[in-house]
Amino acid sequence: MLKDVQAGTPDNKLACPDDKFVCPSGMIFESHAHYDDKQFDSDREELLSSMGKNGVGAIINVGSDFASCKRTLELMKEYTFIYGALGIHPSDIEDLNEEVYEWLRSSAVLPKVAAIGEIGLDYYWEKDSAVQSRQRYWFCRQMELARELCLPVIIHSRDAAEDTLALMKGIHAEQIAGVIHCFSYSPELAKEYVKMGYYIGIGGVVTFKNSKKLKETVARIPLERILLETDCPYLSPEPNRGKRNSSLNLPYVAKEIASLRGITEEEVIEATRENALRLFGKIS
Ligand code: NI
Repeated sequence: MLKDVQAGTPDNKLACPDDKFVCPSGMIFESHAHYDDKQFDSDREELLSSMGKNGVGAIINVGSDFASCKRTLELMKEYTFIYGALGIHPSDIEDLNEEVYEWLRSSAVLPKVAAIGEIGLDYYWEKDSAVQSRQRYWFCRQMELARELCLPVIIHSRDAAEDTLALMKGIHAEQIAGVIHCFSYSPELAKEYVKMGYYIGIGGVVTFKNSKKLKETVARIPLERILLETDCPYLSPEPNRGKRNSSLNLPYVAKEIASLRGITEEEVIEATRENALRLFGKIS
């Protein structure tokens, strides 16, 4: 049950409900997927039914626009191992208004909703400063929703390093747990987020030959702060780069992380599973 804590206190991290869910030991915890995407329409059921026997134990399906949040709730109902994150992506904030915000608030209390996300700032696709300012407004509001509901956040930040960090420091985001998904900035910035208590989401990009900065980040941050993610259907790792991605490709990501850190793939899978269970509190 939600403990009655004052918004803004660090106690919020400890106030999560204790519903029990499962990602068995030795299995992969996929922390960021979009199985509601139309690219999975032709074989979604077959693909998702094959996850368990291929070593994937739990998946967080992450909402991006309002429609995908609603489809995430359906997937959560249909598959025991699928959990949900509800939130509106910075590139989809035209979907947001007070009514949708209230819908997020009332839906995010469902036991299988593990996080608010994905939320954040994207200045790569959005150059208009007025729209960027609206992105900041709704990023803040959704961070406050996570604080209020005692949920972690899944943050998307692209070409907006400075504003993301400034905004998060300004609202004391260190009091809210979360992950910086598809991390694309410097190792120094990753360390800054780790200091704030955040996790770093690592996916297919780490396997690309030209991703030197990310490889360095993975080698330098604590293993206890890394999460495995695909962002599927996007960002397939080598050797499947360019093809539709799925959680079945995560062993390639685990293998690359293992080689960068001089440990085994199994150790990476187990550590990232434990990290995800720690972060997404409600799932254990
Ligand atoms: Ni995503």
